Amino acid sequence: MKQKNLINKINQLKKKHNAIILVHNYQLPEVQDIADFRGDSLELSRIAANTKAKVIVFCGVYFMAETASILCPDKKVIIPDKDSSCPLANMLTVKQLRALKEKYPKATVVGYVNTSAQVKAELDVCCTSTNAVKVINALKDKKQILFVPDKHLADYVSKVTGRRLITWDGFCPTHLCIRVSDIIREKKFHPKAKVIVHPECRKEVIALADEVLSTSGMAKFVKENRAREFIVGTEVGIIYRLKKDNPHKEFYAASEAAVCPNMKRITQEKVLWSLQTLKDEVCVSEEIRCRAKKAIERMLQIA
Ligand code: 13P
Repeated sequence: MKQKNLINKINQLKKKHNAIILVHNYQLPEVQDIADFRGDSLELSRIAANTKAKVIVFCGVYFMAETASILCPDKKVIIPDKDSSCPLANMLTVKQLRALKEKYPKATVVGYVNTSAQVKAELDVCCTSTNAVKVINALKDKKQILFVPDKHLADYVSKVTGRRLITWDGFCPTHLCIRVSDIIREKKFHPKAKVIVHPECRKEVIALADEVLSTSGMAKFVKENRAREFIVGTEVGIIYRLKKDNPHKEFYAASEAAVCPNMKRITQEKVLWSLQTLKDEVCVSEEIRCRAKKAIERMLQIA
């Protein structure tokens, strides 16, 4: 099918089903181009919670669509490829978290949004890369904090807040592709460029950054900053958005190896298929949903 026809069909079906397409900043350019909203984890969950649409087509990894479903039980949340999973989220199971909680029974449990619904149901409060520091700062009266599953985000938050955190050994394989030598090389090629990195990067990389930001934090920063060149330390998919929004600025991937294969599974054809079939629906049991929602709502109240 010609691309124009494909997009027309997607638009017709969106109207028919009263659907919106939410797209994470790492998605393929062709998917970003058909988005009603592009954003980071926090923005997309906020939009999902407030939309009047009946169907949400979520183009991101599974935990993101699940978060939308937790927040909007009255809406149908569909994901165009149900195998788009997040390796970091898969690194912590409910069983492992329960064992950790048993070891530290008095600890407050803070979990990154990159977790399954079942794990979220075990948390006291959720956080995203945008608000992790704020969430930890809001827990000043808590003596002990467990921070799961990303140990690099935990390291960063611990450094900024000065709080000692009990961590888990999870990591994002894509962000770990970015190495100190990559930043040094790109800085040599582009000495005037500002270095912006995601807090899932290793601490040696973060130490070389001018700014540590979530993906939409990066989008906002580059728009408002006077610099014309940026070295971008996160999944390379965001560069399409940055360039599209700021055509007169230059963006250099810190590492071309930082590609998340799961984020690239969704295509325009799969979006069309999901609107034709209203599949695959993301379902969370009511019991898990209600418990997980409390942790997300607590985050939204704090941040
Ligand atoms: P953001 O919330 O910053 O978009 O990050 C999402 C993510 O999964 C990073 O790996």
